[in-house]
Amino acid sequence: MISKRLRVLSTLVPNGTIACDIGTDHAYLPCELIRRGICSKVYACDIAEGPLKQAQKTILEAGYSQQISTILCPGFSKVPLDANSMIIAGMGWKTIEMILEDDFERLTQFQRIILQSNRDVCMLRRWVSEHHMTIEEEKVVEDAGKTYEIVCLNTSFHESYTELEIKYGPVLLKRKDSEFLEYLDRRIVKNEVIASKVTDDTKKAQLYREAEEMKQIRQQ
Ligand SMILES: C[S@@+](CC[C@H](N)C(=O)[O-])C[C@H]1O[C@@H](n2cnc3c(N)ncnc32)[C@H](O)[C@@H]1O
Repeated sequence: MISKRLRVLSTLVPNGTIACDIGTDHAYLPCELIRRGICSKVYACDIAEGPLKQAQKTILEAGYSQQISTILCPGFSKVPLDANSMIIAGMGWKTIEMILEDDFERLTQFQRIILQSNRDVCMLRRWVSEHHMTIEEEKVVEDAGKTYEIVCLNTSFHESYTELEIKYGPVLLKRKDSEFLEYLDRRIVKNEVIASKVTDDTKKAQLYREAEEMKQIRQQ
């Protein structure tokens, strides 16, 4: 069984698109996309031979060799032009940023780009804002004790996002679904616990201010 994080990622891929999974590792996500009938063709890409060998094994065992092609390349540099959705997940923001910028002019070929950075999601949203792209969907996923934020974008023009939207996510702020509210609750408690322990007054005040900001978002 694949992880909840990967399952949620699969639900964010538009039906009927040709997807490319960048940094596919075991190719669990491409197999899920085929298994659920979301895509009939997927490119599973990785920069390293070891993970790609693992991917080929998973694909063969699942019987999806006709539908999933593996590609050894950095980022999406060798992904064919018919791919029109892309997932980059399970990496740090700096790696994801490098992948996006290395082939920046080709981003328009994707109707949706699904990003899940393990860290620095605010930096990811700031990048989207500075490039005037559109955040069209966001999800918070709690999986095995960790919380992940998934950001889906497209390259159509959008005004810059506000600082609050960059910090918490424009879609999450608007929709305020239960996963997001529970995430805020956990962050409020965490901030207050840390604030009660730190001795640096500036840091303490900042943590309490942020906890207050999150409480206000909850109440609005
Ligand atoms: C931690 S795994 C993530 C696997 C999967 N995407 C997930 O979310 O579970 C990261 C994978 O990305 C690959 N990778 C790292 N940098 C890459 C790059 N610039 N281009 C393509 N793949 C990359 C690594 O080889 C590794 O297999």
